[in-house]
Amino acid sequence: MRKMTLPAPAKLNRLLHITGRREDGYHELQTLFQFLDHGDTLHFRQRQDGSINLTSTLTGIANDDNLVVRAARLLQSETGCRLGVDIHLDKRLPLGGGLGGGSSDAATTLIALNRLWSLGLSLDRLAVLGLRLGADVPVFVHGRAAWGEGIGERLTPVDLDTPWFVVLHPGIEVATPQVFGAPQLTRNTPPISMTRALQEGPGTWRNDCEATVRRLYPAVDEALEWLSAFAPSLLTGTGACLFCSFKDEADAREILAQTQDGWHAFVARGCNVSPLHQALGLL
Ligand code: C5P
Repeated sequence: MRKMTLPAPAKLNRLLHITGRREDGYHELQTLFQFLDHGDTLHFRQRQDGSINLTSTLTGIANDDNLVVRAARLLQSETGCRLGVDIHLDKRLPLGGGLGGGSSDAATTLIALNRLWSLGLSLDRLAVLGLRLGADVPVFVHGRAAWGEGIGERLTPVDLDTPWFVVLHPGIEVATPQVFGAPQLTRNTPPISMTRALQEGPGTWRNDCEATVRRLYPAVDEALEWLSAFAPSLLTGTGACLFCSFKDEADAREILAQTQDGWHAFVARGCNVSPLHQALGLL
């Protein structure tokens, strides 16, 4: 029986600038992506009959809309593969959290099924397919911390510092299209070079979505104010999750112990190689 169990890690946007808006409404970004050693887990078991079955610890999302199912169907239709798969998704990452959970699940599915079904597609080819599922899928397919441009698909690998993060989820879901559609969103940050962003360093990094998300979601505003009392804190993606970093794990865990009811928090380490690629020995 052919089966495998693989991680789908979270990502953080350690910096996120919005430099413009394309004609199709999508936004041009500059961002620094880094992975965390914390995320979802997916279990795959090959089927001979071509059907794609998903079970999940997650409720409230129709299976046909799930990026995992869409990724599996996309691979079948692109390659003509007649095999199928049973997938179980062990969900730990929040929806609408800015941690890229859905995109990471999709990337893990593309990489797992490429192996399980012996399709032989390169990571580059899988990343191109992944982009059709969401702007954040390619970075999870490539598996390297990266400077991202375009809508996040033009990726240059980078090595960032790898601190311990406290990631705080204020218990609400942010609707990404609402944030990108907000009239007051900052969309005109002048582009900077990757070299400059890296030279200026973590103390200067910011997220252009922060002011808008704080205004639209008071729960994010409150949580960011609380976390910032311990250390400089940022929003990841369009939120709702917030993060701050520490050299020592113990300092991060001290904050975790103090989080309020209704908030969910975890401590995780930054990784420049995705835990998925580490598990498969891909990079
Ligand atoms: O790619 P993803 O499905 O995560 O994007 C969700 C929505 O966020 C898009 O439909 C679009 O409205 C907005 N978006 C954007 N610019 C980006 C990424 C997303 O405007 N670079």
